[in-house]
Order: sequence, then structure tokens, then C-alpha cells
Amino acid sequence: MSHEVNLKKLNAISKEISLLTHTFSILGWDQETYMPEGAAAERAEQSSLLSKLIHQRASSNELENVLSSLGCTDSNPMGDISLDDYSRRLVRRAHKTYTDAAKLPENLVMQIAEHSSISQNIWAKARADNNFSAYQPYLEKMTDLLIQKAEILGYNNHIYDALLDQFEPWTKTSEIQQLFNNLQPKLISLLKKITSCQQIDDSIIHRKWDIKRQKELSEFILKEMHYDFTKGRLDESAHPFTTTLGSSDVRLTTRYNKNYFNMGLYGSMHECGHGLYELGYPEKMHGTFLGDAASMGIHESQSRFWENIIGRSREFFTAYFDKIAEIFPEPAGGSTPDELFRAVNKVEPSFIRVEADEVTYSLHIILRFRLELQILEKSLKIKDLPEAWNELSRELLGITPENDSQGVLQDVHWSFGGIGYFPTYTLGNLYSAQFHHYMKKDLNVSELIESRNLLPILDWLHEKIHSKGALYTAPELCKLVTGEDLNAEYFSSYIYDKYSRIYDF
Ligand code: CO
Repeated sequence: MSHEVNLKKLNAISKEISLLTHTFSILGWDQETYMPEGAAAERAEQSSLLSKLIHQRASSNELENVLSSLGCTDSNPMGDISLDDYSRRLVRRAHKTYTDAAKLPENLVMQIAEHSSISQNIWAKARADNNFSAYQPYLEKMTDLLIQKAEILGYNNHIYDALLDQFEPWTKTSEIQQLFNNLQPKLISLLKKITSCQQIDDSIIHRKWDIKRQKELSEFILKEMHYDFTKGRLDESAHPFTTTLGSSDVRLTTRYNKNYFNMGLYGSMHECGHGLYELGYPEKMHGTFLGDAASMGIHESQSRFWENIIGRSREFFTAYFDKIAEIFPEPAGGSTPDELFRAVNKVEPSFIRVEADEVTYSLHIILRFRLELQILEKSLKIKDLPEAWNELSRELLGITPENDSQGVLQDVHWSFGGIGYFPTYTLGNLYSAQFHHYMKKDLNVSELIESRNLLPILDWLHEKIHSKGALYTAPELCKLVTGEDLNAEYFSSYIYDKYSRIYDF
């Protein structure tokens, strides 16, 4: 059979996987937004069944045969040399999906899906009740399942590699360790400098911010970012997230707190950054193995870019303060753009990762990464996790959580089996700063934000990143966009410049 026929076959298989995956996502979106409590048990079974069907197709002999007809083998994952570059990259991505799926027994995949659905509910309740011991056995079971999964997937150096690879393909634990070892002392020394300065008065962001109006502001800013509401929605959930229910249906959630300005707006902007990426894959890639992100680190670079580099910039407040004061005459009227800009950027060690400022944020990630390593190495027992968490919090942030809801129970990730995910947030910060550095060579980013003209910024991201889908690995994409490998110096100098101006040192 000709390559053309085989490529068609490959795309037909991936189309079904994609349809099933989007259907699986509908169940998850509903579970986190509007599902009544009573539906939880059957929803877990539904999710488990869908994950079985997806796994069956991703590990099928049919897929294996098509790939081998295209000349794809473990030692030659890009397939026949006569294929064009696009097809060779498509084959490489398909091969990765196939080999991972084929290694994993169906039973384990279903167990993880079912347990993840159950343990997310248990976690949410445990966090609300501040009761770690109610969640402990579920997390123990999840880590057992993930250790089994990692052993089956295999790794060369550290067991963590196998799980990290699910979210950040082709990046190794030792590379993350190196990046973090470089970053940690810089962050701690910057934090010390800042805390020795006069602290910012951020009382404005803790005034009463009417929730209905916060929704209005979020929707307004999302439109400014050119998020297409005919291809998505903004809802509320306990933990903000973005999910793709179809090539033209990418939904966002956020959460609001009436006494805290940052939560709603920055949750929305962050998720919208993810959404713009997902909506930006070219039509040609829809339903194929390439209609996907390069990696979760690149995904987070898009969300953190819009949330922080745009949304927390001085220029953003020059541009949008009037609008904010118009929507909120009460808390914002009588204030100034500079006052609000400084308030949203106050740096202070705090307990909750998602609300952390740009300087301390990665310290929260380093904490989780170090605990995850110990859990997988079995040098830390789950029952000792809360105390280990608090100890690391003292070491890295200088503060001790008052309870487990503010500590070890705060994040949803472990409950859905996302060990290995956290480092992608810091990678996102690093990639976003590097992309921004190079974007400024092509565009006057400051002037564009100030003039409320965000479209050229989105177009740049679209051309360089979104339109590439999963053609390139994250390191390849970084090199293609910026001409160099990931370099943490861009992030370090971005935060140093920004905060030395804000805190005046
Ligand atoms: Co994110």
C-alpha cells in the first residue's frame, strides 16, 4: 500500500481517538462544574469505560501495523525517509502514543481512571473539611498505581522520568533538578531583598469586589484577548481549568472571591492563555496526533504569559484601569492605575500556590517536586506527607501552613494521578520569559498593551507556537522560536528587573 493510503488510515485511527478523548473530557468538565453529587459513582464507571476504549485504540494492532507500514520502528520513530517532514513528525508523535499505550495493561489504565474520578471527590471533601487522614488511603492507592505505571513504562535513570514524560515528553528529571538548583538560590535571594524593602499596601485588592461585576470584567478581558466565545465558555469550578471538548469547543473555568480581586481575573486570564493555544491548532491538524500541545510546559508558558507578563504588567493597568474603575466604581474609584498595579504584584511568602506572586511561585513548585521525588523513591510515606510539606514550606518560604487545607491538601493534581505535572508550571514561567524576550525584538509589546491592541501579540504566539501543534518537541520548538535552548536567565532577569523597579532597589 502506498504511504498516502497508510497516512489516511493513520488519520482515521487518530480521529476516533480524538473523538473519544473529547467525549471523555465532556464527562470531566461536567463533573467539575454542574454534575450533581449523586452522579459521582456512575460517572467514575463512565470515565473508566471511555479510558478503556481510548486505550484500546491507542494500543491497537491496527495502529501498530499502519506505523510499521510507514517504516516506523523503535529505532526509527519518524518512519520512511521518503515521507515529507510533516508526515514524519506525525508518525513520530503517533509512535509515542502507541508505544506508551501498548506497554500499559488495560486493567491498570481503567483502575487509574476510576480511582482518579473517585479520589478527586474524596480530596475535595477532605480539603473542605481539613481532614488529611480521610484522603490518605486514596492517595496511597494512587501512588501505588502510579509507581506500577512508571515501572511498566520504564526509565533509564530515575523513576520520576517515566511520569514526567507523560506531561513533558523528552525532558528528564536531571534537567529539571539542574534548572531548579539554579533557580532556587536566585529566588530566595530576590525574596530576601524584597522583604527588606518597604512592603506594598495592597488593601485595595481586598476590598469588596462584587462577584457579578468580576464576571463582567473577566469576560471583557477575555474578549480583549480575542478568545472566541462561539467556541467556548467561561464557568466556575473549585480549581480553575481549561478543557478541550472539541476542536472548536475549548472551555475555561475560573473562581471568584468577593474579597480578593486577583483570583477571578487572573484565573480567567491564565486559563484563557491555555484556551487560545488549544483553539490555535491549524485545521489540518484537527483530529490528528498533531492537534495537540508540544508539551504541558509549553502549554503553561501560554497561560503564564497572559496571566503575568501581560496581565500583571504596568502597561496593562495603564490600558485597562479606566474600564476596571467603570465596572467597580466602589473599590477602584478614587484609586490610581499605579496603586492597583503595585497591589496585584505584592511579593510575600504565602500558602497557596495558585495565588502566589511571580517571585515565590516557583518555590511552591520546587517544594512539590522534592516531595514527589521522595514519594516515588519510597523514602517518604504518605502518612508523613503533611509534616514533610510543612517542613519544606518553612525551609523554602519561611512560613508554616496553619492547617492541611492550606498545605498538603491544596492542589487537585495528586488526586487525579498528576504526579510529575508540577515542574511544567515552572518550565512554563521560564519558556514564557524567553518567548517574551524574543517577541520584543519583533513587536513593541509595551505600546501594544497600552493601546489595548493585543491582537498582534496573539498573532505572534499563533504563528510561532500555536500553529505548530505537536510538530516539535518542547526543546525543538524553543530552539525554533528563539534560536537557543531553554535558558533560565531570561526569567531571572525578567523578575529582577520588574521587582527591583516595583520595590525600588
Ligand atoms: Co495552567
